[in-house]
Amino acid sequence: MKLSLALLAAAASGAAAFAPVNTNGLRSVTELNARQPIMAGNWKMNPTTEADALNLANGFTALLNEMEDTCAMDEVEGCTEVVLFPPFPFISKVMDIVGKAGITVGAQQVYYQDKGAFTGSVAASMVKSVGCEYVLCGHSERRSLFSDSDANINAKVKKTLEFGMKPILCIGETQEEYDLDITKEVCAMQVSKDLAGVSKEEMADVVIAYEPVWAIGTGLVCDSDASNEVHKYIRTVLAKMYDDEVAQATRIQYGGSVTPESVDQLMAKSDIDGCLVGGASLFADKFARIVNFEKL
Ligand code: PGA
Repeated sequence: MKLSLALLAAAASGAAAFAPVNTNGLRSVTELNARQPIMAGNWKMNPTTEADALNLANGFTALLNEMEDTCAMDEVEGCTEVVLFPPFPFISKVMDIVGKAGITVGAQQVYYQDKGAFTGSVAASMVKSVGCEYVLCGHSERRSLFSDSDANINAKVKKTLEFGMKPILCIGETQEEYDLDITKEVCAMQVSKDLAGVSKEEMADVVIAYEPVWAIGTGLVCDSDASNEVHKYIRTVLAKMYDDEVAQATRIQYGGSVTPESVDQLMAKSDIDGCLVGGASLFADKFARIVNFEKL
């Protein structure tokens, strides 16, 4: 079961669920139906205790259940996929709570080796065996604080796919790179290096999250038009690496200080297929509102 919150919200507000809104780069019916919206909550190193994590999971699930019911897994049209990324120790218990509501759980990161003497690391097989379906790869905090190189990220993406899970590949420019006006070059470089050797068939399981580093945790949301331009550009990179089909089918999320106030505008854009949410996902009500974004 997957959530169909957007559809139901639109129905509740009396609006047509997929009213065509084609002007100014807004999403068309065909585009929306082609790419299932995906909202992900990255809890990072929060909350600090298991009790608090389970409270958050329970609170969020209860709100979603109140909002509406679910739709069938194969009924992609109109469904919003929801994924939570709790810290490793909480994954199983959080999954027990949220799984019943159709919410998927993922791992914030894995190491690219299969097993062995890698103290403190977690293998793809481990998170797969406890039910994770997604893995975040290349998050900017892993890149900057834990020295994740593009080569390592590429290995992690491939390991995630090898174990039948779906990577959410995070890319995006730093403030310095933004100031130098090289956002597109940085994104193109990261996409080509991080997806090197990933086949066209495997791309069906890859999600990309465009996250300007300067927008993460800062309260500065990238302007929705500017973000949409980058998303479109990422599709041209994918078209060159693969083909138009992959470019149009790949889901690209926006991440960086997404809030209930900014989500509707972002999701109205033609090439933004969901959001990767940090801070606001730690508040059940805020994340429930984000998941339940309104169609503009
Ligand atoms: P933020 O984090 O929403 O707190 O900016 C986003 C992210 O790091 O993925």
